Amino acid sequence: MISNDVKEDLKKLSLEEKAKLLVGADFWHTYPFLDEKGLCLTDGPHGVRMQNNGGKDVGLKESIPATCFPTASCLACSFDEKLLYEVGKAIASECIDQEVDMLLGPGINIKRSPLCGRNFEYYSEDPYLAGKLASGFVQGVQSQNVLACLKHFACNNQEYARMVNDSIVDERALFEIYLKPFEITITEASPKAIMCSYNKIYGILASENPILLKEILRDKFKFEGSVISDWGAVSKRVNALKAGLDLEMPGSLSYVDILSALENKTLDEATLDHAVESVLRLYQARPNFKEKKNLSFHTLAKQAALESIVLLKNENQVLPLNLTEKIGIFGNPVMRIQGAGSSKVNPKQVDSFLDCFRKEKIHFKYFETITDEVKQMDKVICFVGLSSIKEIEGKDRKDLKLDEEDIDLVYELSKLHSNVIVVLTTGSVVEIPFIDNISSLVLTYLAGEASAAALYDILYNKANPSGHLAETWIKKLEDSPVYDFGKSVYQTFYRESIFVGYRYYDKVGIQPLFPFGYGLSYTQFKLSGIEIKENILYAKIKNIGLYKGKEVVQLYVRDLNEQLVRPVRELKAFQKVELAPNEEIEITFEIQVSFFEYYDVLEKKFKISGGTYILELGTSSRDILLSKEYKINQPMKLQPTSIYHNLKSVKEITKIDFEKLYGKTIPTAPKKYPFTLDSPMVDIQAKRIGKVFIHFGLKALKKRSKTKEEYDMNQYTFLTGPIRMIGMGIQKTNHQLEGIVDILNGKIFRGTIRFLKKDKRMKKLKQ
Ligand code: BGC
Repeated sequence: MISNDVKEDLKKLSLEEKAKLLVGADFWHTYPFLDEKGLCLTDGPHGVRMQNNGGKDVGLKESIPATCFPTASCLACSFDEKLLYEVGKAIASECIDQEVDMLLGPGINIKRSPLCGRNFEYYSEDPYLAGKLASGFVQGVQSQNVLACLKHFACNNQEYARMVNDSIVDERALFEIYLKPFEITITEASPKAIMCSYNKIYGILASENPILLKEILRDKFKFEGSVISDWGAVSKRVNALKAGLDLEMPGSLSYVDILSALENKTLDEATLDHAVESVLRLYQARPNFKEKKNLSFHTLAKQAALESIVLLKNENQVLPLNLTEKIGIFGNPVMRIQGAGSSKVNPKQVDSFLDCFRKEKIHFKYFETITDEVKQMDKVICFVGLSSIKEIEGKDRKDLKLDEEDIDLVYELSKLHSNVIVVLTTGSVVEIPFIDNISSLVLTYLAGEASAAALYDILYNKANPSGHLAETWIKKLEDSPVYDFGKSVYQTFYRESIFVGYRYYDKVGIQPLFPFGYGLSYTQFKLSGIEIKENILYAKIKNIGLYKGKEVVQLYVRDLNEQLVRPVRELKAFQKVELAPNEEIEITFEIQVSFFEYYDVLEKKFKISGGTYILELGTSSRDILLSKEYKINQPMKLQPTSIYHNLKSVKEITKIDFEKLYGKTIPTAPKKYPFTLDSPMVDIQAKRIGKVFIHFGLKALKKRSKTKEEYDMNQYTFLTGPIRMIGMGIQKTNHQLEGIVDILNGKIFRGTIRFLKKDKRMKKLKQ
């Protein structure tokens, strides 16, 4: 039996047993330990995706039904850590029912570009908001003793070539923007595990990166949990182990590589033991499955959607609707409730929008096409949104466009009717060309299995909308500092540095369509009486409208020191408050050191500069309603003048400017030839044998893909993925996979022998 003492437990294990504990046994389980079953690890993050096929494959087909909560991009608009706690707790209860030890989530990567295909799985463009929400979620999950796994560490901000690309980001942006949410969550919620990302940082794969996994994660952030690889992120298991990666997932034969390295003394047992101890601590902390909860969470899924749906426009108070009005419905009212890829849940119960109307006996008509009858309707609701294939893990978007048919439909309707309400269902930002032609815009994001019922309640003011945007909605793609992806398979330069999201738009003076933090309500609020007394900021908020409602009060900090490169303002705190009509309350914010910090690259730590700051209270990053000066009597930080001081556009930043900022030699892109296990597939097309390989690979993919879109997506991932990816699931050792690389490099005979030859150790292990 597992004891409380990992050191004692370690003594009970042979070398082979230890090595096996560091590699998955199959897609979703680790090996058993003594009489303990292997751990079961499952996606996440917005519901449990438990495979019922025993973990033999990636299993993207059907999983055991579970509550499908709103995706992270939606939940983030709630600005409500307590809600995230409840959602995390509920998902963990379902984990217990399904005997899942670890939930693979939350995903907290920063939304660097609106194009990232996986933005729906992430919270925000703002590190503070992402970190606070993730902390709530992790605390909720772990309150049930289910292990949470924070992902993807770090700088996995695009899907294009995600397994080979090097994220080249300067140290200040790395710490202030990309690592900050991880730092906050680790400090506040102590997640039991963290998943390293696929990409490279500083030219080295995250899974093999000692700067990331040791210096930053363990030494700086004091992370005490286990480091787990993303599925297939490990190239050389022994290097990864030495760099600080504890558990490789999914199952592979790489324990053989570990044993060989121990035998030929390129790996010492202490390093092995260190990682095994970390994995054993997960066995110790695992939940008790005897306490099945069997609870139902549809109501919570609906509440989460209600808190998160954002009202973006409401001219002439067209909303809320009145039960007596005649409503015309256009577009597809079967709302998309989640995104595609590893986070896809098999929902337990999905609400229907039209059923909500029928139940309440509302006078409505669903129109398949536009007819003159539309003029007889009091108001018109039109559903538009992205199709599921446009927002998917593994593929980025090329543009932010909605389908032409959707756009045309809205324009046509708006010619015939003056009260058009658009319901927008998408996982992340799209361009909204028709914004001036419509009366109201309700953004549901991907609001989970209760999307439709929640939307109905919002439209009829059974619930007053209170979601606020956790990302900026720009007018057009070109406004984004990252408007193109996929220039190089090998490297991505984070040229905009700390100017991500609203930090960029504020700095260069771009007017967004809807700013970060924005969201309307059916009632109005008034903020007043700001003052600072003994490090506490006080203000009053009053509901001056007709309905009970919630407001998100946001605290931004602005540094007046022009010598230090800084965003115009940064979110440092927020509070969501609920008020009845005429009710007024006092809100307080404790002024903290972190409000003023910047990362100093020379001293390699967060520091404070003296000078004058403005503490701003508002309801969005562009609706600042009150402000107060705050002085810090310390020396002011001066920075040599650079292009970033008065940045006008990311386009101005040359390679030389970026190199200056980066401060080190930029890692060179790897050579195309000879091929290695990490070479992107797309490169092997340069050789005839490679072409043959790709031809058969694509043929197999075509056979497996059900639709053209699915094939396009699989092709994209396959061609921009590394050669080693073909090893996933085929049970070959690294040594055997190197055989394939030899073949591609023209050493056909040697390669074939290597590929077919079983490692000597494998034979020994089998005996
Ligand atoms: C994703 C992870 C996910 C894992 C297991 C990977 O492709 O990046 O987020 O947890 O697969 O499904």
